[in-house]
Formats: sequence, C-alpha cells, structure tokens
Amino acid sequence: MARPLVASIDLDAILYNYQFAKKLQPSCKAFAVVKSNAYGHGAVPVAQHLDKEVDAFAVAAIEEAIELREAGIESPIMLLEGVFEPSEWQLCEQHGFWSALENDQQLAGLLESQSKIGKVFVKLDSGMHRLGVDKAEANDLVVQLRQSSLVEEVLLMTHFSCADDLSDLTTMEQLAYFESARRDIGDIEASVANSAAIMKWSVPDGGWIRPGIMLYGISPFAGVAGVQLGLKPAMTLTSKIISVRHLQKGDQVGYGRTYQAQQAHQLATVAVGYGDGYPRVTENGAPVRIAGEAGYLAGRVSMDMITIRLPDDSDMVMALGQEVVLWGGEVPVEEVADYAGTIGYEVVTRMTSRPHYRYFSTTKTA
Ligand SMILES: Cc1ncc(COP(=O)(O)O)c(C=O)c1O
Repeated sequence: MARPLVASIDLDAILYNYQFAKKLQPSCKAFAVVKSNAYGHGAVPVAQHLDKEVDAFAVAAIEEAIELREAGIESPIMLLEGVFEPSEWQLCEQHGFWSALENDQQLAGLLESQSKIGKVFVKLDSGMHRLGVDKAEANDLVVQLRQSSLVEEVLLMTHFSCADDLSDLTTMEQLAYFESARRDIGDIEASVANSAAIMKWSVPDGGWIRPGIMLYGISPFAGVAGVQLGLKPAMTLTSKIISVRHLQKGDQVGYGRTYQAQQAHQLATVAVGYGDGYPRVTENGAPVRIAGEAGYLAGRVSMDMITIRLPDDSDMVMALGQEVVLWGGEVPVEEVADYAGTIGYEVVTRMTSRPHYRYFSTTKTA
C-alpha cells in the first residue's frame, strides 16, 4: 500500500547516452555530470551504475563529491565550481578529487595546503562572465600551478553561454578566444563542451567533454525533444487516477478555478503535485498519457494532486486506478517544461524525495 507516484529511472539509458556523447566526440574523454543529485535522477544510484564505465564524474561542489565517495564510487570526481574554502584542498587530496580553479584565493589555498591534486582545470572566462579569468590571468594561474609541482596536470576549461542556440555565433567567438588563450599558454588540454556543444558545435580535439542534460536523455535545445536527437530519456514519472467525476458545462476546477468546462466531460484526479516536483506553474493543456491515450492537464496543480481530462473526441472512459504518465515515454519532459515556462533541466532537477524512485537495468543490478 503506497501512494502510486513512481519515478522509474532507466540506468542503462544513462550509460547509453554517455556512450552516445563519447561517440560524437571520439577523441575526447568525458565527464559524466551528476551534480544536483544527477539532475534529480539520484546521484548515488546513477554514479554506482556508471562507475568504472566513465572516465570521470563531475559535480558542483565537494559535498556532492564526498557523498559519491562514501557510496563507494571509485572513478575520479571533478569539482566544477572549485573549492569554496582552503581546507577543501586537503579533502581533494585525500579523496582524489580534481577541481576547477578560477581565482588567486583558490590558488593561495592550494599552495598553502601543499595538497597534491591530480588535475586542476583553470577556468577561462571566454564571454559568459560568470566564473573564470581573462587570458593573461589564466596564463598566470597555469604558470604558478605548474611551478608548484603540486598538480599532476593543469588543463584549461571554459563554459559556453549560448551553445543551445545554433543561430547565435557567441559560441564561435568564445571558441576563438579559448583557442587564442591556449596558443598563448602552449601545450595544454582543453575542456569546453556541454551537451549542446557536444551535439551541435565543433569542439577542440582531445581533452574533456562535460555532458550533463544529455545523459538523462533530455534535449538542451528549445523545441526539440531528446528522443529526436537520438537520446534515450531516463526518467518516466507515472501515477494513478485516484478520483473521477463528471463535470457539467460551466463547472470550474481546482484552486483559483483556472479551468472551466466548455461542455460536460469526465475529469480525473491524479496523485502528483508540486510537492513531488510537478511544477505548480504548469498551464492547462500540458500533455499526459492516460492508460495509453493522450490527455491533458485541466486545472491548477496542487501540492499533492493534479486534474486531467481527455480530448473531446476521445471515446475512452477514465476509471480509478488507471495509470497516468506525467512525463517519459510518449510525454517528453521538454513539452511539459514548455507548459511550465521553463526547461527540461529545471523540471527534473526540482524533483523532490517524495515520489518512489525505482531504478532498473537489464545489465546490472542497482
Ligand atoms: C561547467 C559546466 N560544465 C558542464 C555542464 C553540463 O551542461 P549540460 O547539462 O548543458 O550538458 C554544466 C551544467 O550546468 C556546467 O556548469
């Protein structure tokens, strides 16, 4: 006996998508980006499935890296946001973490702690203006890191601001700036590409790619679903119908009465809400599948429930206990995200711990 809301995570799909990323950039090694709880899919089970199959993992911060080590993950783990306090360098040495580095304080902390680090990725600000330093400062950081002999390999990384927009030439400008920084520094490996760049831009040969959203089978591009790009969506969120009623023409539904029946029809209530991660702002019309048939959201999303209906021309009768797919399969999460005015990234990352998470694989047990 349990609330019937289940997030099924296909671990094989995540491994498939990782291998797909590597095939697109065959000269590169690849981080599997599992920050923010593997974009809501569960960092520990996902990393346990991918461990030893991937070149390394990437997370945002040391807490996430330690969680993975404590769960037995053996692959290298890189901190994309770098260290926040000097004391973290010792933990990096102890656990074998790699790190991004973007400022003098981080460098001073490393020199002070004399920690030995496998790889440090100096972050170049090639135009996003979020993290990183300019070419001259990056060169300086690389020289000091190399002189310290504390780091086995120093690399140069950057991040794109608009790689998801193929009509925006900012990515070309960022790449040109990155390559000129690399030429100034001399022999140094690169790490530039997120999912969008891996799939659609030409990135430097060799070095490290950083696929995140594509691992989960979700598209980084507006108006295109992951399946259309050859990816396998990893998460399917399903629940069941827990109540059914007949509306009369003019009846209004839910908080704020945001849906009004234009004619008599059935309405079903489903056990999922914003307390589970289904966005409250999702507008009427967002797609669902009801026992295999297309249906849609009708009424405001509550904390624990949504209300749905079938199209006017459907002959189906909704009944208690029927399965409803909220996303996954024939309901792309990217489309639900559109109805919520956001992107697939945010929808999955905001999943809460309340749904039952079921992990499956036909190759390994989770
Ligand atoms: C530095 C960095 N690299 C790679 C990624 C992965 O990006 P995506 O999920 O678009 O592949 C992120 C995600 O935000 C990031 O911040």
